[in-house]
Amino acid sequence: MKDEFFKLMEQHVSVRNFKEEPLEKDIKDQLLMAAYSGSSSNFLQATSIIEVTDPKIRNQLATIARAPHAQKSGAFFVFVADMYRLAKVLEQKGNAVKPITSMESLMVSIVDTTISAENMALAAEAIGLGICYIGGIRNDLTKVSTLLDLPKYTVPLFGLTIGIPKSKNDPKPRMPLKNHVFNNRYNTNLSRNLAGYDETMRDYYAHRNSNSITSDWTTKTSDFLTNSQRPDIAPFLRHQGFEI
Ligand SMILES: Cc1cc2nc3c(=O)[nH]c(=O)nc-3n(C[C@H](O)[C@H](O)[C@H](O)COP(=O)(O)O)c2cc1C
Repeated sequence: MKDEFFKLMEQHVSVRNFKEEPLEKDIKDQLLMAAYSGSSSNFLQATSIIEVTDPKIRNQLATIARAPHAQKSGAFFVFVADMYRLAKVLEQKGNAVKPITSMESLMVSIVDTTISAENMALAAEAIGLGICYIGGIRNDLTKVSTLLDLPKYTVPLFGLTIGIPKSKNDPKPRMPLKNHVFNNRYNTNLSRNLAGYDETMRDYYAHRNSNSITSDWTTKTSDFLTNSQRPDIAPFLRHQGFEI
């Protein structure tokens, strides 16, 4: 049981090719229960999940995310960092809302929401389903918020597609522990010495079962990070009421 659990985690891979079969309600209910059973900072439960079943909305989200597979999986959930409910609690108790507009509140809600999503993802993988996060919805947060009727103090962080895999990629080798797990103090030498990992990834990219390329992790990552991503996130967060 223990071995199987760790094996399951090691074999994680994002699935982008799903059978077009909706998930049954009891399965979705179990996945939602898994999502809501995670830890929560100060038990604020600062997260909401929107299951998108309307094909029109789903298509629009998939288009925004440039992720066609988001249209086809058995279910599609959007995970929302949510301080709105807590703002209403404060108001109802006659208190000022201002404290929940802080960066700390935003972080709390992002962490809570991410924990619940990964709980759901792991639960789905444990019952043989495939998952893929869809951060691409942040390509146009304003449009996503309009589509989903999101109130102030909320941020749609990512979608999660879940379904029956039609095909799977090979699992991607992770960075060796020595590069990112340290003893007592951060070790800058180990952190930045990625030559060994580059070799592993060069081999993986060249031989993987789809989309083989000639590159390594630091080259690919550096190319990606050269352009700063999604500059309209900060203005959006301000618009949602957070003090950034
Ligand atoms: C928050 C988050 C957002 C992501 N967004 C997307 C996305 O929009 N589209 C996509 O195809 N994959 C997306 N992914 C999947 C990553 O590309 C994937 O996890 C990473 O390449 C590692 O591959 P693996 O999950 O197969 O191990 C996302 C992953 C995370 C954690």
